Amino acid sequence: MTSPEKEMSLLKEALLRWSQAYFEQDDPEVPDVEYDAAMRRLQALEAAHPEWATADSPTQRVGSAPLAAFQTVAHRLPMLSLDNAFSDTELVDFDRRVTEKLQVDVVEYCCEPKLDGVAVSLAYQAGQLVQAATRGDGSSGEDVTENVRTIANVALQLAGDNIPAYLEVRGEIVIPRMAFERLNARARESGDKVFANPRNAAAGSLRQLDSRVAARRPLSFTAYSVGVVEGQLPNSHSEVLRSLKRWGLPISEYMETVSGVAACGDYFSRLGAQRDALPFDIDGIVFKVNDLGLQERLGFVSRAPRWAIARKFPAQEVGTRLLGVDFQVGRTGAITPVARLEPVLVAGVTVSNATLHNADEIHRLGLKIGDRVIVRRAGDVIPQVVSVVPELDADAPPHNRESIVFPASCPACGSRVERAADGAVMRCGAGLECNAQLKAAIRHFASRKALDIEGLGDKLIEQLVDEGLVQSLNDLFHLDIGQLQGLDRMGVKSSENVFEALLRARSTSFARFIYSLGIREVGEATARALALHFLDLDSLLKATTEELEGVDDVGPVVADHIKAYTSNPLNQELLSSLIESGITWPAVQVDTGDGPLTGMLWVVTGKLLTMSRDEAEAKLRALGAKTAASVSSKTTTVVAGPGAGSKKKKAEALNIPVVDEEELIRTLGGRL
Ligand code: IVH
Repeated sequence: MTSPEKEMSLLKEALLRWSQAYFEQDDPEVPDVEYDAAMRRLQALEAAHPEWATADSPTQRVGSAPLAAFQTVAHRLPMLSLDNAFSDTELVDFDRRVTEKLQVDVVEYCCEPKLDGVAVSLAYQAGQLVQAATRGDGSSGEDVTENVRTIANVALQLAGDNIPAYLEVRGEIVIPRMAFERLNARARESGDKVFANPRNAAAGSLRQLDSRVAARRPLSFTAYSVGVVEGQLPNSHSEVLRSLKRWGLPISEYMETVSGVAACGDYFSRLGAQRDALPFDIDGIVFKVNDLGLQERLGFVSRAPRWAIARKFPAQEVGTRLLGVDFQVGRTGAITPVARLEPVLVAGVTVSNATLHNADEIHRLGLKIGDRVIVRRAGDVIPQVVSVVPELDADAPPHNRESIVFPASCPACGSRVERAADGAVMRCGAGLECNAQLKAAIRHFASRKALDIEGLGDKLIEQLVDEGLVQSLNDLFHLDIGQLQGLDRMGVKSSENVFEALLRARSTSFARFIYSLGIREVGEATARALALHFLDLDSLLKATTEELEGVDDVGPVVADHIKAYTSNPLNQELLSSLIESGITWPAVQVDTGDGPLTGMLWVVTGKLLTMSRDEAEAKLRALGAKTAASVSSKTTTVVAGPGAGSKKKKAEALNIPVVDEEELIRTLGGRL
C-alpha cells in the first residue's frame, strides 16, 4: 500500500513529465482524461494532507475559474520603453552620448537579446508571487496574476538568501517558435483561432480571462530588470540579473557583459548569426550601461532611459504583394497552396514563395491574388503569409483581385483531390501512381539518412520520372549506364557514379530501409525502434496494430499508418521486388548490454563543432547508449552545444547532467 505522501510525490512527478511531453514535445504521454484525473487526485490528497502540499506542485499551475474582467494595476514605477538604433552608426552615436555625459572613455555594457513578446511586471512580497501585471500604457496595466501563475518557469516562491522584502521583477513572456508552430498547427486542424506570430499568441494567451486556457499555452518567462525593490541588490545590472537567477527566476542564457561599443557590435553580429537558430523570436539586442550608479547619473529622456538602447535586427515581418498561387503535391499526396510573392527581403533573406498551408487558411485570410500581404520568416520555419493588409495608398484605384481556386484534380496526375477524413488537408489519393508523389518518394528514398544514393539529385529524379524510365522505387535498381547517359547533363563519369551509388545503396541497415520507405510519420528514430523490435522484414509485415503499438516511440496513429502501409498489396509487391533487386542488410545488432554507455539515455542539442548531431548520436549508440530527441525524466545526460535552448533548460530543471562537446569527446574516448 502506497502512503499518501509517496502517492503525492509520484503524482507530482508524473504530472510534471506529462505536461512537459504535452507542451515541449507535443507528444502527449497520456490522454487528457487521465491527466485530469491524476490532477484531481493530487488536489484531493493535498486538501486532505496540506502538510505535504508543496509550492512547486503542478496543482498550483492549472488555472482557476474565469474572471469577469481584468483589474487595472497602477505601476509604482513606470514601465519604460527603449530607444532604437537601426544602424551601427546609431549605436556608436548612443555610446558617444553616454561616454560624453559620463566623461569617461569606455563604458561596460550588459548585452541581452531583445525578446519579442509581452512585457510584464511580477511583484514578490517576502519572496512570494503576489501580483503580475502587463505593461499596458507604461503607467498602468492589467492584473494577469492568475494566468502568470500557470507559467511553468515563473517561480511562485523565491528561494535562497537575501531575498528583498518586496521585489518587482520585470521581463518578457514569449512562446517559443516550435511551440508556436505546433499550437497553430493544432488550431488549424481543429478550426480554432490561428495566431499571426508568437508575440500575438503570447499576448492573446496572457489576456485569457480563463486561466485554465492560459495554463495549456506554452508560455515562458525571462526576467530582464527590476522595478520597485525594498531591500538590498548588487550595484550592477548583470549582478542583479544573476541574483534573480539564484532566487529561481529565469534570465537570458545569452546575457554577457562587454567593454566598449566595438564589443557591442561584435555581440550584435554574433547573436545575429545565430538568430535563426534561437528557440524564440528576438527583434534586436538591448545594450544597457552595466553600472547602476552610472545609470542613475544618465537618467531618462521622456519615456526611455539614456543608459540603454535597442539595436534592431531586420524585420521578420514585411509587406509585399501576392502574384499568384501554385499547388504543390507532397510525398503523402497532400496538396499545399504556395504563395508566389513579389520578392522581398525578410530578416535578411529574399523571399519569393511562402506556404499557405491549406484551403481553409486561404479562406481564413480572405486572400485573393493581387492583395498586399504580410509575410513572416523566422528561424528555419518556411515563410508564411500571415495576413492581408490594406493598400498603402488608400486613394489608389481598386485593385483587380482574383479569387484563388483550389484545384479539384491533382495538378500532377489529374486524379481527383479529396479532403482527408482527418482535417483540412486535401490529398491526391493516387499514391506512387502520381508522378509528383513518386518524385518526392524517390527524393526521400535516396536521401542521406535513408539509402544515401549520392548523385541522385532533384534534376535527375525529375528526368527519370518524366521520361518514364522510373515508375517505381524498384526501377532505380534496373537503370543501366546507357539510360543514365542519355539524360540531360549526365556525362559518362556522372552516370557511372550514380550507377555505382545505386549498387552501393543495396547494402544498408534494416532501420535505414524502413525509414527510406517514407511511411507516414515514421522518422529515423521510429524506424530504428521498429528495426530493433522486429529484427526482420517478415515480422514487421506480419505485426498487428497492437504489436506495433508495443514498440517504443509508436502510438496509435503511427501504428495505423504503418499497418496501412504494410497491408497494402502494392507496397508488399514493392518490398519483395526491392529484396529481389538485392537490397540487403546485416542482422540487426541487438544491444548486448555490455557497452560502456549501456543503460544511459542521451540527448544531443545545440550546434557541435567537430561533428554533426547525427554523428554524435550514432557514436553514443555504438557505445551502448540509447539516444532520444527530447529530454524527459528518463534522460541521463544532455550534450548541449551553442544555441541549445529549451532542452538544456529542461535538463537543468530536472537536474539532469548537461555536458559540453569537450566532455562528449572525452566520453567517446577519442573515437572521432
Ligand atoms: S529593458 C527601461 N531588456 O522591449 C528599460 N527590454 O522597447 C526597460 N524587451 O517593453 C526595458 N527584451 O518588453 C529590456 N532584454 C530586454 C528586453 C526588453 C525585450 C522589451 C520590453 C520593453 C520593450 C522596450
